Amino acid sequence: MNSENKKDRSMEKTGTGYEPDEMAWRLRIFDALSYPSVVISTQKNILGANKKFFETYGLTKEDILGKHCFQVFLYKDTPCNSQECTLARVIKDKKALSYTLKHHYKWEDRVFSPILNDQGEVDFVIFSIRDITRTKSLENQLIGVKEFMTQVIYSSASAIVAADRKGNITLMNSVAKELFGDYNGVEGSIRHTEQLYPPGKAKEIMNMLRDEKIGGKGKLIIPRTNIVNANGKELQVEMSAAIIYDDKGNETATMAIYNSLEDKLKVEKKLKDTQKQLAQSEKMASLGQLAAGVAHEINNPLTGVLFYAGLLLEREDLAEDVREDLGYILEDANRCKNIVKSLLVYSRSTDSNKRVVQFNEVIEQSLRLIRDQKKFRNIKIKRHLADEMMLINADTSKLNQVIINLVINAADAMKGYGKISLYSYKNKIQKKVYMEIKDTGEGIPRENLSKIFDPFFTTKEIGKSTGLGLSIVYGIIEEHGGRINVKKTGAKGTTFIVQLPLYVPREELGPLCRPAD
Ligand SMILES: Nc1ncnc2c1ncn2[C@@H]1O[C@H](COP(=O)(O)OP(=O)(O)O)[C@@H](O)[C@H]1O
Ligand SMILES: [Mg+2]
Repeated sequence: MNSENKKDRSMEKTGTGYEPDEMAWRLRIFDALSYPSVVISTQKNILGANKKFFETYGLTKEDILGKHCFQVFLYKDTPCNSQECTLARVIKDKKALSYTLKHHYKWEDRVFSPILNDQGEVDFVIFSIRDITRTKSLENQLIGVKEFMTQVIYSSASAIVAADRKGNITLMNSVAKELFGDYNGVEGSIRHTEQLYPPGKAKEIMNMLRDEKIGGKGKLIIPRTNIVNANGKELQVEMSAAIIYDDKGNETATMAIYNSLEDKLKVEKKLKDTQKQLAQSEKMASLGQLAAGVAHEINNPLTGVLFYAGLLLEREDLAEDVREDLGYILEDANRCKNIVKSLLVYSRSTDSNKRVVQFNEVIEQSLRLIRDQKKFRNIKIKRHLADEMMLINADTSKLNQVIINLVINAADAMKGYGKISLYSYKNKIQKKVYMEIKDTGEGIPRENLSKIFDPFFTTKEIGKSTGLGLSIVYGIIEEHGGRINVKKTGAKGTTFIVQLPLYVPREELGPLCRPAD
């Protein structure tokens, strides 16, 4: 029997072109399919359906067999337009086709598979409906989780950077872009993790990450380390990093979280400066007390020495050499008296005589007092005094001491040759007046900076200088509610800055009490 005849007979018996037992075997497989499927002829007649189809849609053989697909699936009496008909396309192209459809809250994959005969023509088409609602919902959940993770990464207050196995950067959130300066025109200039650190550091971090003994395998926390931004500037950060592994334990990526320490360091520095200042003023206060005590103790016997030495000197029967020695005693005792006087000024135990004065006037007055001194013969003094009213409430003679001391120190530092510049200005908002004394001297070595205001600290020849100048200056400025600091010092010279409260007349302070309603 040739195959043509066989097919014709089978067509009569089963309508499919297969022998009855072959058909039964095929139907068994068809029935075993877990998704609803129907067999449709090229004339769009439904030839059969599997068990799952009848179960799913609650239909019987009578409901569908021999009927047209458009009648069963679309409740229509006429076929669809051939351009819209998927079946027609499958038959024409002899290729399987599928599409995804949302149908009554369900997602379905509709698959059309052509069954070809020996001549390669389409005999019929199997149409399967696969419920992919669960897959779709998982897919949507995954998209949701992914979007959420992206939001978490991008809204994080920490800088986050991820890179692939070779160190190529795959993700940088906005904080990271800001931290590394990879934004505004230079966006994307950072491409590799090696660009994030000083030379050699990226490798070192990778080695530490892989080392089980440091923070566990694939994990690392460094409380303080340096990174490099797009401009090459090193910044201090706290960082934690991790290697991301796949199921099999292979490294797939790395990620790091950075928090800038710059603000924290600024606060720490400010705190340290304040502590230093506090320690300095405490030291000065206790030294002041000590100095006052010593000064008082020495003052009494010294008055005795001076008194009796003076009495002796008045005697006429003294030998000339004794008279001469007595003169030396008196001279040295007077020197001691001057030191004691200075100590008392430093420790603030002399009376104060404050009045409202023009700051520039006090400066000019002080300069007049030293004008003719030999020390200043080869020194140029330049004034840059603010051309405005700057009233202060001060003891003029004490402020004269401050200015003279500072100017003499400046002259000493220049060994008699150079330029001293004096500046005065005010800050109306902060209610402060300032004076700066700048010299072109040798500068103050760093290790001396914390000592220069101590009483008796001097680097000058012993016997020539007492080392009391700056301690007296410090005491007087404190007594006036001001501050004194070294603003700048180095090989080109030193600048001292003095700050004093600006005098504010009473009426500008506002009423002392609330006016009656
Ligand atoms: N303008 C300055 N330039 C360099 N060093 C200075 C300056 N002013 C003060 N010093 C240093 O501070 C020290 C203490 O100054 P001071 O208390 O006035 O004592 P003295 O002038 O008697 O040494 C000086 O010996 C000097 O080392
Ligand atoms: Mg001095």
